[in-house]
Amino acid sequence: MDRLQELRAEIDRIDAALAGLFQERMTVAAEIAAQKQARGLPVRDPERERAILEKLPARMPDPALRPYYARLQDCLLELSRAYQTALLPRTDADEARIFTDYPVVIKRGALARAGELFRLDRRVFLVTDSGVPAAYVKALAAQCAHHTIFTLPKGEQSKSLEQLANVWEAMLRHGLTRQDCVLAVGGGKVGDLAGFAAACFMRGVDFYNVPTTLLAMADAAVGGKTAVNFAGTKNPIGAFWRPKAVLMDPEVLGTLPARQLSNGMAEILKLGLTLDPTLFTRFEDPAGPGDLEALISQAVALKQSVVEQDEREAGLRRVLNFGHTLGHGIEAAQSGRGALLHGECVALGMLPLCGPAVRARLLPVLEGLELPTTVSVDVEAVLAAVAHDKKAGADGIEVVTVPEIGRWQFEKMTLSQLRERLQTLLPQGGIQNA
Ligand SMILES: NC(=O)c1ccc[n+]([C@@H]2O[C@H](COP(=O)([O-])OP(=O)(O)OC[C@H]3O[C@@H](n4cnc5c(N)ncnc54)[C@H](O)[C@@H]3O)[C@@H](O)[C@H]2O)c1
Repeated sequence: MDRLQELRAEIDRIDAALAGLFQERMTVAAEIAAQKQARGLPVRDPERERAILEKLPARMPDPALRPYYARLQDCLLELSRAYQTALLPRTDADEARIFTDYPVVIKRGALARAGELFRLDRRVFLVTDSGVPAAYVKALAAQCAHHTIFTLPKGEQSKSLEQLANVWEAMLRHGLTRQDCVLAVGGGKVGDLAGFAAACFMRGVDFYNVPTTLLAMADAAVGGKTAVNFAGTKNPIGAFWRPKAVLMDPEVLGTLPARQLSNGMAEILKLGLTLDPTLFTRFEDPAGPGDLEALISQAVALKQSVVEQDEREAGLRRVLNFGHTLGHGIEAAQSGRGALLHGECVALGMLPLCGPAVRARLLPVLEGLELPTTVSVDVEAVLAAVAHDKKAGADGIEVVTVPEIGRWQFEKMTLSQLRERLQTLLPQGGIQNA
């Protein structure tokens, strides 16, 4: 056996010993979970975890290995927590806890208990915007050991590099370190910018998200995409940066204007149309789509199931772009006062790409939600934006179409095919009568 083979055999032997130790450790962790439950204690114990992380590296004899050992311990703590949580019987409080690589808690009143989910016993940099009611930010700030609040101007214009630089500057000024965290409190704009700020600062700090719009809860806050707008284009500069945990308290939607609520419904409809007919039929119920908590949970679970299979959007995740190719084009062609919201553009963008029977069912649902079904727009400007956005190849642009509810496919369409479809959205295009 040559030396390399010998060394590999040695590593295998050590890994086998580690597997045994890991099993032993998790068995004890399971017993600890049962004890914690019997005493009504939460799985997470930030004080103890911090003490462990401070104390343990010193046990490593070789100082050069200590940082690696610290990382291993951090990882072990995270795995123990995940295992303990999975073992415990689901309680009412856990009902809407969706486990992915990070927990997503959807629960009325959860805002007041954020400290149980997030590690707030350190410096917390809260990012929000001027349209988010201050009470939500205050409720979170009150649970932090040390906090700084950064308030962006409301609106999509502040999702910019300039504002991002202001955020980083304030993070530096307030002495944020690698061990601290960023906490976003707001809609998708705040989450996207704050997440990207966290992804880059000190090469990445922990990021927590508390989405406060329906669109952000049902869509933007899960999936790990972060970005800012740049050079007139939406989201070209960004990173995949998973949050450590996401907390959604549907009670905060009580202050959201009705138009913003419908805006979020459009993204939920997208998930129903492409992936889950039961979600779509909720919207056909004359009594409305029902409890928001359940609606958001169903949407988040669907989005997560796609993201888990294709986080980096190599294939399947592109299904989530249904309605977005034309929707982004419409968004770009519309600007200034009275411009349509993102979800409204997505609603419009979905219509021409549905099969006739799907469109016939979708139209009354959109109307019921007061989402637009027609738009006065310069079709050529939309096409130009779509071609620029999607880098149209000789064989056309790939779009997602929905031939029947719950079934989707990728289709290549030429610009002239897309022009024809877009024309059905013009007020005189007669789409309502189609
Ligand atoms: N990362 C992703 O996967 C993803 C997915 C979809 C959309 N997005 C991004 O999300 C953004 C759109 O998100 P949005 O629709 O939440 O817009 P937004 O963040 O601009 O919020 C809309 C408005 O609602 C206000 N607001 C927020 N919470 C409120 C509350 N509880 N009560 C009253 N007002 C409240 C905000 O101040 C803002 O004025 C876009 O930038 C889009 O690119 C990202």
